[in-house]
Amino acid sequence: MSAQGWPASLADERVGVRPLRLRDAASWSEMRVRNEDWLAPWEGRQPGQASTPWGERHSPGSFAAMLRVLRHEAKAGRCLPFAVTYDGELAGQVTVSNVVRGAFQSASVGYWVDAQLAGRGVVPTALALVVDHCFTDVGLHRIEANVRPENAPSRRVLEKLGFRHEGLHPRFLYIDGEWRDHLSFAVTVEDVPEGLLRRWRADQIA
Ligand SMILES: CC(C)(COP(=O)(O)OP(=O)(O)OC[C@H]1O[C@@H](n2cnc3c(N)ncnc32)[C@H](O)[C@@H]1OP(=O)(O)O)[C@@H](O)C(=O)NCCC(=O)NCCS
Repeated sequence: MSAQGWPASLADERVGVRPLRLRDAASWSEMRVRNEDWLAPWEGRQPGQASTPWGERHSPGSFAAMLRVLRHEAKAGRCLPFAVTYDGELAGQVTVSNVVRGAFQSASVGYWVDAQLAGRGVVPTALALVVDHCFTDVGLHRIEANVRPENAPSRRVLEKLGFRHEGLHPRFLYIDGEWRDHLSFAVTVEDVPEGLLRRWRADQIA
């Protein structure tokens, strides 16, 4: 049996989100290896595994192993691992993880885009599509994003979409050999009765 709201494919003009699939392996690997300097400062690693070379962790074989775990987690309703596409081609990822049900109904999001496609609104569009889906078909109440204070482009994405700054998590994630502070942002369903994508589009016109 599938989890609530999964699998799902959504699109807005040139940007789409859909489940990652096995035939993404070669493009995903090429993009992740080419974007090492762009991505590595923002991505957490389990302490003790940090010495595995980036190229090894982003081979097509590593993708297949990662996808197996993600599919299992998605089927259990614990994550929604979306590929982001631009004009139908793989462009990045938006991953909803740490889905907690019960009285919390909350999850975290992480995201990245190929540096060659940065600055075109790909991630804010994909993130708005995903958040709206989480608040409707998945039935979640709150989505959280945690960002290093130094990550100005990521903070800008959340600012554009109107995520609320809720505080600072000291020493939150292990990145590049250190426990790094993160700023915490969130949006709840009451904040966007009209939908996040629709609200952002209206802000752009105003
Ligand atoms: C953060 C990130 C996902 C934003 O995605 P995006 O699709 O480029 O988002 P936007 O197009 O809305 O751009 C956001 C801001 O990035 C900045 N930006 C634009 N082009 C850029 C470029 N070529 N390089 C760096 N920053 C750029 C701008 O400040 C922009 O804000 P603006 O639209 O008000 O000018 C992307 O920069 C990225 O993948 N970074 C590396 C991974 C990462 O940081 N992930 C998030 C971890 S919390």
